[in-house]
Formats: sequence, structure tokens, C-alpha cells
Amino acid sequence: MRALVRETALSPGDLIYPLFVRPGKGVRSPVGSMPGVFNLSVDEAVREADEVARLGLGGLLLFGLPETKDDQGTAAWEEDGIVQQALRALKQSEASKKLVLIADVCLCEYTRHGHCGVVVTSGEGLYAGFEVDNDSTLELLARTAVSQAKAGADVVAPSDMMDGRVAAIRRALDAAGLSQTPILSYASKFASAFYGPFREAADSAPQFGDRRTYQMDGANIREALREIDLDIEEGADMILMKPAMPYLDVVRAARDRFDVPIGAYQVSGEYSMLQAAFEKGWLDRDRAILESLVGLRRAGADFIVTYFAKEAARLLG
Ligand code: PBG
Repeated sequence: MRALVRETALSPGDLIYPLFVRPGKGVRSPVGSMPGVFNLSVDEAVREADEVARLGLGGLLLFGLPETKDDQGTAAWEEDGIVQQALRALKQSEASKKLVLIADVCLCEYTRHGHCGVVVTSGEGLYAGFEVDNDSTLELLARTAVSQAKAGADVVAPSDMMDGRVAAIRRALDAAGLSQTPILSYASKFASAFYGPFREAADSAPQFGDRRTYQMDGANIREALREIDLDIEEGADMILMKPAMPYLDVVRAARDRFDVPIGAYQVSGEYSMLQAAFEKGWLDRDRAILESLVGLRRAGADFIVTYFAKEAARLLG
């Protein structure tokens, strides 16, 4: 009877699995702070995609660990960049017919300084310092999105949080004849301690300062709604909210106000925190995984990006 009257459904097709792709062949290197998560070479990523498709998941979200980094993040948009290589290989696989291939658009994995945009010097004397330059970053993000879409991305997902990037990416995609490629914007992304383990997984920790000049203050819900509003106006087709669990009220507010599809990203810290408790035997693994995901659907998320996607699919199956 509980099943009969259940208000919220969770199914494997609602889940997106993140993949971290790196150079090499036959490589599966474990991420220390995220048990069960690996950096994969392209051939291994294709094998992983097969399994993900068999489990009935909705799609993949791709991140790249490039061979080399520089100040501009050149490896993010190179035709032969690591994510572009992975997209081409995945596109040729059987699995891709069942999966939505989403490419994360950001520069932090590709810049030496680890920031999500171009870093310039600012101020003078005592006040001299560095800052991320919003406007000169837009062109590089647009270039990245176009090269990913050309390589086979079904969706591009900017996560950098520069202002105006959705419009810049939309314009560049259209100009390149890619008007059919939708944009999933990380419209509401808070500066968060919960991204910690990801920065090990993606080797993207900022080498100085932090991301508070471009990611939002966790105390602000009105600002989050304004960011979403702007992104939709600029042409975002879907929006992604993150982190997830500490921001359920923001997901709910966005659901009530906007009609575009909404995704929630259960980020690395949320995953690692649960994994740590499982390792200690403090939480019931299976129940906690599903409860954490149903909560996001109940808050209003249509789909969920989660490192538990494969395991959750098995539990649901
Ligand atoms: C890149 C990006 C980050 C995440 C997704 N895209 C890290 C960050 O902003 O530092 C975090 C995902 C996670 O923690 O699982 N900008």
C-alpha cells in the first residue's frame, strides 16, 4: 500500500553519471577522496558507458583531465582535447544511442592556476592582486562549447558561473551551425566546501584565492533565482542546481518559479560524506543512497547528477 500511494518516483533514467576522462590506455586510477570513482582513459570510459547504458541511466556528464595546462585553458577547446576525444569515441559506441552525452564547459581543469576563467592582475601597490576577468573568459567558454558539440556532445553544460556565458555560448553554437545543441546551465551554483573531493578528482583546485568572486554566497536564495532568470533569458534550455542537499529549498523555489527542466547535482562532498559514514558502519548504505536521491526529486528536481547513479540503478532494479 505504501508503494501504491507514494508521491515521488525515482528511476534510473532520472540519473546522470559523471565521468572523469584522462589520457592513456587501459587506465582506471582511483580518486582517493571518492571511493568508487575513477579517472578513466577513453577506452575505459567507453566500457563504463556500456555498463551505464545497460543499467538504464539517463546519461553521462564528462569532465577532462588534460595532458597539459596553461594560463588560458587551451586544452579545453582543442579539437583533440581529452573530452573531445572521449566524445568522438562515445558517439561511435552502441551505448551512446541510449545515453545523453553532456559535456561540462569550464576552464578550471585546464588552467594552471585552477580558476574557471582568465586571470588578470588588478589594483596597485598594497592593493595589487589577481582577479578572474569575466568578459574575456566568455569567448574561451564559447569556443570550448562549440568544440565539444562538434565532437558529439548532445548537451553543453557551462559550470564556470561567468555572467553572460549562456548568451555567448548560444551565439557561438548558432554561428557554427549547432543551433540544435541545448544548453544546460549550472545557473545556481554556490561557492561551496562540498566541491572539495571533486577538485582532487578533476585536479582543479585554485592555486590561489577562492571562487567567491564568481560563485554565489550560500546564504542567498533571491540571488539564486535572479541568476536562473538571467540564464533562461539568455537562452538556457535547462538548469542545474548545486550543491544539492544543503540547498533543497533553492531547488524547490526554482521549481515553483520556472518551467524549464531542472537538474540537481549531488556533488562530490555529499557523496564522500556518505561514503565515509558507510565505511564506518554508521549509516545503512542502500537506504541512505536512495533517501538522499528521493529527497531531491521531492524538492522538484527532474533529474539528478550523482556519483551514486550506477549503484542507485542497481538498487532500483
Ligand atoms: C567546475 C566544476 C566543479 C564542480 C563541477 N564543475 C568544481 C568547482 O566549481 O570548483 C563540482 C562538482 C562536484 O563537487 O562533484 N567548475
